[in-house]
Amino acid sequence: MSKVIAIDGPSGAGKSSVSRIVGERLGFLHVDSGALYRIMTWQCLENGVDTSDPSAVAAFAPKVEIECRPECGRIEYYVGGERPGNRIRTPEINAHASHVASVKEVRDIITATLRGMTRHGDLVVEGRDITTAVFPDSPARFYLTASAEARAARRQKEEVEKGIANQGAEAVKASLLARDRIDSSRRYAPLRKADGAVEIDSSDLTLEQVVDAVVKSLPEGW
Ligand code: DC
Repeated sequence: MSKVIAIDGPSGAGKSSVSRIVGERLGFLHVDSGALYRIMTWQCLENGVDTSDPSAVAAFAPKVEIECRPECGRIEYYVGGERPGNRIRTPEINAHASHVASVKEVRDIITATLRGMTRHGDLVVEGRDITTAVFPDSPARFYLTASAEARAARRQKEEVEKGIANQGAEAVKASLLARDRIDSSRRYAPLRKADGAVEIDSSDLTLEQVVDAVVKSLPEGW
């Protein structure tokens, strides 16, 4: 049976960097579940599907074909043979993604896709409902958080470094808090700390310190 390290938390808490490094250290594949919701959102927008209409999104979701391949320590996603890259990281996708992620049919499809990835080996999976809904029985579950200021500052730096956008700190913070609100209050699999998950506040920790805290809390023999 594959081992799964499950990491949830709000936007900008550092889940991606932490999951990538934990995966490298342990030889577990890194799985970015948010990218699947972003791909669904991108495909809705490309195909003129109204993301504020849950029934339109639900009807369209099964038509989106996402190929998942283990490559270089992570699961890479392909749509029509191409990697989506930064096309799924724009402020426009940010603004629509939490609406698409609120649709039950979308969540069911992505949950099944994520569970199927265990056939590729041991995984570090990050997202919003990994510890509560996708892999709730994993013995290695973490809730990673940080102050809104720290999270917005990280997201803004990342957007500028990757050449995705050049928004001010306040705009980044407002968009991030708006998404958190929708992600935490939705009906299906809202973001919340799972009972029994280890909570780590990364506001004043370095990346290495957070990685160490995760690795130290893993079950014996992982
Ligand atoms: O982590 P991210 O910003 O790339 O996530 C994109 C969107 O998908 C965000 O609105 C939260 C949502 N999401 C989710 O609902 N469940 C997950 N497991 C991962 C992401």
